[in-house]
Amino acid sequence: MARLSQWVATAALVVSATAAAGPEATSHIEIQKQNNQSLYWGPYKPNLYFGVRPRTPQGLWTGLMWGNVDNYPEVQSNFRYTCEQGENIHGYGWDEYDARDGGIQSIHDDGNHIDITTSFVKIAGGEHGGSWAARIKGQVQDGAPADLKTMVYYYIAQEGDGKLVPQSTGDKLGIDGDIELKGDSKALGTYSITVTKGKGDHPEVQNQFSKIRTGDKTLLRSVQVADENLWQGKGLLYNQLQEAVKTLQDDIDIEDPPPAWQVYRLEHRPAVGNAHLVQKTFQGSFEFDVIFNSGSAGHTLGSDDVTKEIKKVSQSFSDRFKQVFELKAPFNGGKYDAFGKSMFSNLIGGVGYFSGAQLIDRSYADEYEELNEGFWEETARARARKAQQLEGPYELFTSVPSRPFFPRGFLWDEGFHLFPIADWDGDLVLEIINSWYNTMDEDGWIPREQILGAEARSKVPEEFQVQYPHYANPPTLFLVIEDFMKQLSNAKVSGNTKPSAGLRTAHLDNPEAGEEYIRKLYPLLRRQYDWFRKTQRGEIKAYDREASSSKEAYRWRGRTEELVLTSGLDDYPRARPPHPGELHVDLMAWVGLMTKSLMNIAGELGHTEDVAELKKNLAAIQQNLDDLHWSEKEGCYCDATIDEFEEHTLVCHKGYVSLFPFLLGLMNYDDPKMGKILDLIGDESHLFSPHGIRSLSKQDPYYETGENYWRSPVWMPINYLAVTKLHDVATHDGPFQNKARELYSQLRKNLVDTVYKSWVDTGFAWEQYNPETGAGQRTQHFTGWTSLVVKIMAMEDLPSSSTGKDEL
Ligand SMILES: *[C@@H]1O[C@H](CO)[C@@H](O)[C@H](O)[C@H]1NC(C)=O
Repeated sequence: MARLSQWVATAALVVSATAAAGPEATSHIEIQKQNNQSLYWGPYKPNLYFGVRPRTPQGLWTGLMWGNVDNYPEVQSNFRYTCEQGENIHGYGWDEYDARDGGIQSIHDDGNHIDITTSFVKIAGGEHGGSWAARIKGQVQDGAPADLKTMVYYYIAQEGDGKLVPQSTGDKLGIDGDIELKGDSKALGTYSITVTKGKGDHPEVQNQFSKIRTGDKTLLRSVQVADENLWQGKGLLYNQLQEAVKTLQDDIDIEDPPPAWQVYRLEHRPAVGNAHLVQKTFQGSFEFDVIFNSGSAGHTLGSDDVTKEIKKVSQSFSDRFKQVFELKAPFNGGKYDAFGKSMFSNLIGGVGYFSGAQLIDRSYADEYEELNEGFWEETARARARKAQQLEGPYELFTSVPSRPFFPRGFLWDEGFHLFPIADWDGDLVLEIINSWYNTMDEDGWIPREQILGAEARSKVPEEFQVQYPHYANPPTLFLVIEDFMKQLSNAKVSGNTKPSAGLRTAHLDNPEAGEEYIRKLYPLLRRQYDWFRKTQRGEIKAYDREASSSKEAYRWRGRTEELVLTSGLDDYPRARPPHPGELHVDLMAWVGLMTKSLMNIAGELGHTEDVAELKKNLAAIQQNLDDLHWSEKEGCYCDATIDEFEEHTLVCHKGYVSLFPFLLGLMNYDDPKMGKILDLIGDESHLFSPHGIRSLSKQDPYYETGENYWRSPVWMPINYLAVTKLHDVATHDGPFQNKARELYSQLRKNLVDTVYKSWVDTGFAWEQYNPETGAGQRTQHFTGWTSLVVKIMAMEDLPSSSTGKDEL
């Protein structure tokens, strides 16, 4: 009897352990397998208003296009497919989105007088990532004619192997009911895709064409296209429309033309092919579904299921949002709720999957060593030799800074993107980090801007396409990985203290799997660290510099006279002219951050030799930051260079660069220098503005000059680092606690107010904000790192203390 009860007890334990993490998710590999299924499908073509594809190079991809067809001129000018800036759209994007279940996007298309809603749901099952459905709704805007005519297209393309066959052909004029295609490919197994007839009226007109061009039927044009051209959905459609228009041309009376919708109609020609264009013509509001049923899923979804799933997804999103981002005063009023949801959903809904070759210059030319005075002219000549070649294919699963303008992966943005996503779906973040480290080469280099495939390249001017393996970029992923490590070590001691959320928290619910993940990643982090220290090293001994450590000094490679693109802070003023003896304080701080993170991770993993070495490096970096970069006179950190007398000299431009050792947590709470840095942050005649911390001091000679990119505007990532660091100082004992508290409260409020107001006014988040007016500037729909605002709203409300007030 005793043995039986023992057996029962053990069995119960096993059950509870697996239940916490979702079905049978125990080992890292097992969890990864389940994540692969759960994250297989998504709106992973964020460059399109709505584009669904799987996370595999040769899958299926589908995209929505539409446009008004009331008048001829509008047919082309307001045609929508890829996200573009400056179109007459008052905001678009995901109001709610979860990478596991789906979400809802709305598009306020003023130019076409219609509001489009795309609801997307995923239903698990089978071996090929489950099924999904999209509901496309068009609602005629207030004030627009009720008989507004809209043409809607759905593009479906089977990449690589496999086939896709229409099941119904209708008659010559089109198809009356649903359209169904059946497919089969290695990546997807067997599947079907249905475009329903949906609801809505269709235009009608009695004229000579009314017998051959009716508005009530759905058209299907199937074609076979070379694989490398499949991405050009819009071009393909235009070609097909043009051909179809030709057949009418001779019969059209130019003085009295038929309505545009009758002319712009595809030939209805369903056939086997790898690209299929579905066309619908609506009059007034409309709705239809696109349903993808995976053959191995064991279910067949219909429109009723879609209705149910959309409701469910919306409810669970709202519940989880409340739990994960509990907005704190003064942002806990209802009006910030929709704003916060939209900012977060656009970030996570902007995650994309990219694959293809990229251009890399692997010449390792001598000039790229940047050893000589005048090195920036030598490197310009070396680049002009155009030694770049297409390399790959690579693949990358990543979020993007901005869907219309930067729909691709950027290394230094990505760390910031992952902060809010990590709170929501830690396992998604681990997948993304994995994907980035899979693009690292044997030396430890990661291309900083990943322009994969022809479609991605079509968006980037040629001179910015080439990646160079001596160019670095701020290693922001370390920030996120260290955060995960901290949560993991807590989970190992006391279990995951956050509520379990299925696969979203699987690696924390199973700390051993989490540790396995980190163990696998660690050598890659170490390789990247070693690459950084080797390739971006600065000179100390060659110029007889006085510093405690003769090793720790750093210089960004790849600068020109005006720009240091690799630093991420492009036109921020640096030493002039450039000099091979230059040292960059922001880079030294980034290396310090890597050292500290790696040391903590190595400690957790028990790599004691690494810990000892990294500890020594960190102490040397902290010491050299003061020895080589601190200016007592200016009261801040500065870059350094070599002057005309061959002497070490500081180059001080007060602004973001001056703050980096503080921002990245390399200063002690009682360091008197910290007081000076806080003074600089809080000084309105230098950096503090009602809209956040300025990138450059108002008193700097370069303030608002040139491109004025990082020379005055307020940027969210740096402000986010500042606000979190201020909170950290405010909540730890030390002489600057009160001052930090004041600055924290004010800055937190200024940042949220600014982004919120601009969002209400324009319908968009922006790349940067004007420090005087608070207006959003430059790139529109910048829901990459600007979305950090949702984390700032969820940060602690620390009301100003009455004594601290005077210190500001
Ligand atoms: C998950 O998917 C990736 C990319 O497709 C693949 O490399 C990996 O082996 C998969 N992992 C598991 C455990 O199936």
